[in-house]
Amino acid sequence: MDENGRITTGEYLPDDDFEASIRPRRFEEYIGQSKVKENLKIFIGAAKKRGESLDHVLLYGPPGLGKTTLAGIIASEMGVNIRITSGPAIEKAADIAGILTNLNEMDVLFIDEIHRLNKSVEEILYPAMEDFSFDIIMGKGPSARSLRLDLPKFTLIGATTRAGLLSAPLRDRFGIINRLELYTPEELMLIVRRTASILKSSISEEGAYEIAKRSRGTPRIANRLVKRARDFAEVLGEPIITENIAATALKALDIDEIGLDNVDRNLLSTIIVKFGGGPVGLDTLSAATGEDVSTIEDIYEPYLIQLGYINKTPRGRVATEGAYKHMEIPYNGDDK
Ligand code: ADE
Repeated sequence: MDENGRITTGEYLPDDDFEASIRPRRFEEYIGQSKVKENLKIFIGAAKKRGESLDHVLLYGPPGLGKTTLAGIIASEMGVNIRITSGPAIEKAADIAGILTNLNEMDVLFIDEIHRLNKSVEEILYPAMEDFSFDIIMGKGPSARSLRLDLPKFTLIGATTRAGLLSAPLRDRFGIINRLELYTPEELMLIVRRTASILKSSISEEGAYEIAKRSRGTPRIANRLVKRARDFAEVLGEPIITENIAATALKALDIDEIGLDNVDRNLLSTIIVKFGGGPVGLDTLSAATGEDVSTIEDIYEPYLIQLGYINKTPRGRVATEGAYKHMEIPYNGDDK
């Protein structure tokens, strides 16, 4: 990384060393999200052919699906530098001014949690994204003058867990909008095997599948579980992460056969036991379980909805028959 926090192609950096070491750097290494990947390859190919910067990209979807990774790959494939920051980290207009004026032609600016930008920063981004220009106001009152500064033609990649939280003017300025989906167990199995091999750990086919199907469709979780299973294998003196070792590690972490943890199970049992299966409003559910509304919405609910255990209705969340079955609570009645 250079003095501006700019990361150069090929040494894409990290929230931590482990995540950095297992991050794919090119599309060939990136597993899953095939539709998003194929489209991006075309848009990148076309932009490169024209010698232009890539249009601004918005990536949205639940946390841990590889939005930051994908941004790094886009920069690598474009052959440009990436500057990484996040919505809450850009506090003042001067912060974003400093970042924008330090970019080089075609660079990627990645803003994670872009829905958390404050309004004054967001308003600076509008002309920056649209015309690659930046207005500086000098002086105050009747003598105030505005000076227009040209910015390099850059690509903004914004990431958010919920596109619905973005203001319409900001959302409209992204030319490429992609939703990342939860991964299938088969895709996660490939990710688990790749990670184990980078960690120089042996893992059996069954061991990899055991972890994959209990990772809530999320590579970040799968990768964390590989590390924990490796710990168990090492302590138990096993040379290979077998199905048995993986199951032992997952049991110790209170993760059940389909990947639900204590919080998931508490959410389901609260809807079923305290609220008769629902519908129950999100705020009420949050108060009853002690989990933040945004934690429930962003982190827990997407997987429970994908499993078909929770339905969203206009009157609140409802537990389905599948949820009762999983929680081993007798079900009487239709899904409400
Ligand atoms: N690690 C995290 N996400 C990944 C992905 N989609 N492909 C390969 N490795 C990953």
